[in-house]
Amino acid sequence: MPHTTAFARNQWYVAAYSHEVGRELLGRTILGETLVLYRTEEEGTPVVLHDRCVHRRYPLSEAPTRLDGDRIVCGYHGFTYDTTGTCVYVPGQKRVPRTARVASYPVIEQDSLIWVWIGDPALADPQSIPRAKHLDSPGWVTVRGMEPIDCDYGLLVDNLLDLSHETYLHGGYIGTPEVAETPITTEVDEGAGIVRVSRHMDDAECPPFYAKSTGIEGRINRWQDIEYHAPCLYLLHSRVAPVGVLPEPDGSDPGGFHTEITYAITPAGDGKVYDFWAVSRDWATDDAEVTEFMRANNHTVVMQDVTALNLLQKTLGTERHGYQELSINIDTGGLAARRILARLVEEGDKPVEKVL
Ligand code: FES
Ligand SMILES: [Fe+2]
Repeated sequence: MPHTTAFARNQWYVAAYSHEVGRELLGRTILGETLVLYRTEEEGTPVVLHDRCVHRRYPLSEAPTRLDGDRIVCGYHGFTYDTTGTCVYVPGQKRVPRTARVASYPVIEQDSLIWVWIGDPALADPQSIPRAKHLDSPGWVTVRGMEPIDCDYGLLVDNLLDLSHETYLHGGYIGTPEVAETPITTEVDEGAGIVRVSRHMDDAECPPFYAKSTGIEGRINRWQDIEYHAPCLYLLHSRVAPVGVLPEPDGSDPGGFHTEITYAITPAGDGKVYDFWAVSRDWATDDAEVTEFMRANNHTVVMQDVTALNLLQKTLGTERHGYQELSINIDTGGLAARRILARLVEEGDKPVEKVL
């Protein structure tokens, strides 16, 4: 039995970055549902439809399917759909069958992310989408990417909520001995579905990732404050400052470097997850060399995780019998996240009472 975490329906998930969605058809799969994404010609509004033609199930994201204005023309026999998924043309006859439609999905574009609601459209509330304003605000520069991983999304949640692995898996990049050595504090807001994990390191080694990008020489104070909004959005507020630099009484921090690290954890299907990653900074914003360094360096770090999680999933898949994990203090955040995810899964599976 491979390792799988159940999916939480009736939730918003990041399907793509804004820049990925345009006049080319883009296919993505979320919670096992196949989607095709594009933008309307005039307004540039994102559209998300089920990626299977109602006729013979040709994938609408695949050539020679194409856009004709805002309509999507199936590349197999020409069934044509409008932005609501309603079929407006079939070949060889005037009458379009009443049932000829594909599902359309609620979609919100916010903070340079395309959020798609997977579940009952009547329950979709855009206000419930967590924000990541730094991804799309003046004064911030962001490097970003997306890596598909062949692993259960629960393994990526575990990975991100316990940063002690930086010391070992990412040694020489973002890891130093102090990350693993310093205890964490964990706060859980069960109702809001948020897990906060903090690690504040005083007088720590500066990892190459920050030493090279900020120019700090010598030791630092380093703060990592995680905010995981289950199920999809993960924010890591990172601060490094040379030892001795303290925040001003008004909270401003002239000598510190703040970096916002964002992940969107979007389950694609069983044993498959999209790992959206972004690193945003509000310092050295016009220094292209720093930008390139952070892009390349962070990509390397992400790929270290990707390799490890691919391997871990394979390994768990070969276990013949149920296996026992051993959890310790560092896992407090990850265990809280699992609890919240289990609740969201249960809530998402409940039949919704329909008002007739
Ligand atoms: S499969 Fe799409 S028109 Fe036939
Ligand atoms: Fe990692």
